[in-house]
Amino acid sequence: AESNQFCNAGIEYGESSCGVSSSSSKILIKGGTVVNAHREEVADVYVKDGIIVAVKPNIKVGDDVTVLDATGKFVMPGGIDPHTHLAFEFMGTETIDDFFSGQAAALAGGTTMHIDFVIPVSGSLTAGFEAYEKKAKKSCMDYGFHMAITKWDEVVSKEVEIMVRDKGINSFKFFLAYKGALMINDELLLEGFKKCKSLGALAMVHAENGDAVYEGQKRMIELGIFGPEGHALSRPSLLEAEATARAIRLAGFVNTPLYVVHVMSIDAMEEIATARKKGQRVIGEPVVSGLALDESGVWDPDFVTAAKFVMSPPIRASGHDKALQAALSTGILQLVGTDHCSFNSTQKALGIDDFRNIPNGVNGIEERMHVVWDIMVESGQISVTDYVRITSTECARIFNIYPRKGAILPGSDADIIIFNPNSSFEITAKSHHSRSDTNVYEGRRGKGKVEVTIAGGRIVWENDELKVVPGSGKYVEMPPFTYLFNGIDKGDAEYLSSHRAPVKRFKSTD
Ligand code: URP
Ligand code: ZN
Ligand code: ZN
Ligand code: ZN
Repeated sequence: AESNQFCNAGIEYGESSCGVSSSSSKILIKGGTVVNAHREEVADVYVKDGIIVAVKPNIKVGDDVTVLDATGKFVMPGGIDPHTHLAFEFMGTETIDDFFSGQAAALAGGTTMHIDFVIPVSGSLTAGFEAYEKKAKKSCMDYGFHMAITKWDEVVSKEVEIMVRDKGINSFKFFLAYKGALMINDELLLEGFKKCKSLGALAMVHAENGDAVYEGQKRMIELGIFGPEGHALSRPSLLEAEATARAIRLAGFVNTPLYVVHVMSIDAMEEIATARKKGQRVIGEPVVSGLALDESGVWDPDFVTAAKFVMSPPIRASGHDKALQAALSTGILQLVGTDHCSFNSTQKALGIDDFRNIPNGVNGIEERMHVVWDIMVESGQISVTDYVRITSTECARIFNIYPRKGAILPGSDADIIIFNPNSSFEITAKSHHSRSDTNVYEGRRGKGKVEVTIAGGRIVWENDELKVVPGSGKYVEMPPFTYLFNGIDKGDAEYLSSHRAPVKRFKSTD
């Protein structure tokens, strides 16, 4: 039998150590309102061997089928979190949630797939990929990988090709912050953009000016500000806007699509809005913390409380949250991530004397679906179909795995949630499924609740109980040339034709 560590926090094995039998391979979800990004309808959903085989009213089945009544509830694609860091070695420690505990938490919150960031080992993509393959062996839900690029040479250039052609990776992230660690310069960024474009891979950026952040941190220390508030003060939104603008312009120069992760400020969001208005292919990803929280957290007089809100870019002053929500509701921003990167209070205490040593990151993988429902749907800003789009479908489209993921359609993977809009949720560190002892949404309540989660055709969350199986999650390969690349060559042709042929000059001969 497996180790008992997985049996805490109310997490049960689906079919091993706790003696719980595996869920039926045939499931009928009856009478719910099935919501896809393109429409909603009252229908039954029939699942067999991990795949959705039928979506229509009044499906009749035999008595070997598990029937779930969804009358009065929404039946939606499981959430896909485009931005997580599980088992991430960062700032002298490793995130408290690994691929098992983080995914178990995700499933309890209605998220059935995530895309994590492979971090190279001493710049090597191959070594990084192998390390993450190992970390992910205990997965209990499906996952994909983005990959960070932290140095550039002939070997890395070749490795990028291998990752795209053989390893199922179609997105690469460039950190413009974390000087001395993950940060890269503009020269590498341009090389990376060119390579991504040639392979049909999506370039992603963490947009903050790392040199200026470094300067801002020194200023705080000189002023004698060592607490968590110094984190926010040292990296203001103008530094996020600068890096966002720079990345957008360089991606425009190379003519390749760009994905900006964790858009935290009005300033950065407006750079994206301006570029999109001009027709540039820029995707903006707000994260739940930026949409639902404000800067007041890091000003809390209690260090443990303040430190749990430290992430980069920082959670901004009140007002940015509402503006990001509005941008999401109007399509300026397209999908919601979490940047789940959880450290417990002991880990956060590494920076008790100096905010520069507080491991950066907040939780969210379990809370995303509920909090986004509350602030976006319950508040009246978006429809239920839009909710499915921003929590699931758009992510599947951008990373080229739609309609296998992100849809309730015949042939799609059976990653499904049953959501009761008349129930309610409450978030506490005591009841959550992450291994962390804190939660940035502590005490938050709202309407709506994920009552059932089905992942890969298995009921993994029901009656507030998890039944998860380590090793049952599958690696989802993501092919290149997502829709963002459609017609991109025409832009290149236009660029060339709008420039005159080289002027012929003769050497002057006197
Ligand atoms: O503070 C953060 N965001 N930690 C995770 C790493 C990153 O920058 O996404
Ligand atoms: Zn148990
Ligand atoms: Zn980042
Ligand atoms: Zn991140």
